[in-house]
Amino acid sequence: MLFDPRPKSSRKELFDREKQLEALDRSIGKPLILVLGIRRIGKSSLLLSFLENWKGVYIDLRGVRNTADLYRKISEGLTGSLAKLRDVIKGISGVKIAGVEVTLKWRGVDSISLPRLIEQLTKKQTVVFVLDEIQELRPPLSFELKNTIAYAYDNLPNCTFVLSGSQIGLLKDFVGVDNPESPLFGRYYTEVRVERFTKEQSREFLQRGFGELKQSVERSVIEKGVALFDGIPGWLVHYGMSYVERKNYDEILEIAINTARNELLKLNQREKQVAKAIANGAKSWSSVRKLIEEKSGEIIPKSTLTRTIKALEKLSIIQDYRFLDPVYQLAAKLL
Ligand SMILES: Nc1ncnc2c1ncn2[C@@H]1O[C@H](COP(=O)(O)OP(=O)(O)O)[C@@H](O)[C@H]1O
Ligand SMILES: [Mg+2]
Repeated sequence: MLFDPRPKSSRKELFDREKQLEALDRSIGKPLILVLGIRRIGKSSLLLSFLENWKGVYIDLRGVRNTADLYRKISEGLTGSLAKLRDVIKGISGVKIAGVEVTLKWRGVDSISLPRLIEQLTKKQTVVFVLDEIQELRPPLSFELKNTIAYAYDNLPNCTFVLSGSQIGLLKDFVGVDNPESPLFGRYYTEVRVERFTKEQSREFLQRGFGELKQSVERSVIEKGVALFDGIPGWLVHYGMSYVERKNYDEILEIAINTARNELLKLNQREKQVAKAIANGAKSWSSVRKLIEEKSGEIIPKSTLTRTIKALEKLSIIQDYRFLDPVYQLAAKLL
C-alpha cells in the first residue's frame, strides 16, 4: 500500500526509483557506496527494496549510543537476513540462532569482533552491508565502525558497504575521504542521490495511493498536496493517509508542521535563531544577521553566524539560504 508510513521493502511496492536501483545493482562488488537524500525522501525504502535481490544485511543505526546498542542493531539486521544467510550464519562462532532470532556475543569467551563477523559472512559470497543513518554514531563507536569499513575495503573483496544518511554534510564528514585523519581517507566511493519526485510524479503517487484505497478525491485535493509537499514522498504519504481519515486540509498541515517542529527542537539556540530568520525570508548572510540582531537585541559574532549557517547546511536543513523541505520552513517560523 502506497500510503503506508513504514519504509517500503520490495521493488514491487516502490514508486519510481528505477534509476537509483539500477545504479545500486550495478555497484554490487564495489567496496563503498553512499546513498544521500533528505529525511523522508525514501532512502530506507530504496535500500530495503534494493536488498530484495541480493544477499545483504540492513542495519538501522538510529539511536545507537553504546556498544550494546550497536550489537543489538547488528543482531536485528542479521535476524532480518536469516532467510538468505542462514547457512553461513550457522557456522560462525560468537553468533547464535535462537528460533528466528540471531544474537551476537561481543565480549568474553566465544565473542566475535566486527571485522571477523564480516570476514566470515563474506568468505564464500558477496554480501551487501547497508548502514542506514550512520552519521548519527558518535566516537568511539564511529571510529570502530569506520576502521571496520576501512579494513573490509582493503582486505575483503566480497564486501559491499552502502552508507546512507539524511544529514548529507554530516554523512560526508563521517566518511571523511578528504580528511587525512579519517580511516577512510582517500578511498573511492560511488554516490547515489535520492531526489524529490517531480510534480507529475507526485500527482501520480497521490492518485495511485487514493486509488488503492478506493477513495475518489477531487482534483483540488491532489493539487494542494502536490503544491505543498514539494515531491517529498514521506509527506505525500502523510497527506494521503491523513486525508482519508480526516478530510481536513488545515488539520493535516498542522500535524505535519508539528512533526517537523519537534525535529527542529533538537537544534541548539543559535541554529534555531538562524533557521527562523531564513524561514522568515532572509536570503543572505547579512540579512540573516540583521534579522536576528533586530529580534534579539544582541550582536551575533560573525564567525558564530558563519559556523551556524554551515551547520544547518550539513544537517541538510538549508542550502543557499533556502529550506530543502517546505514543511520545515513553515515549522521554523514557529521556533
Ligand atoms: N519510492 C517510494 N515509493 C513508495 N513509497 C515511498 C517511496 N519513498 C518513500 N516512500 C514512503 O515515504 C515514507 C518515508 O520513506 P523512508 O524510506 O522512510 O524515507 P527516508 O529513509 O529517506 O527518511 C515512508 O512512508 C515510505 O513508505
Ligand atoms: Mg530512513
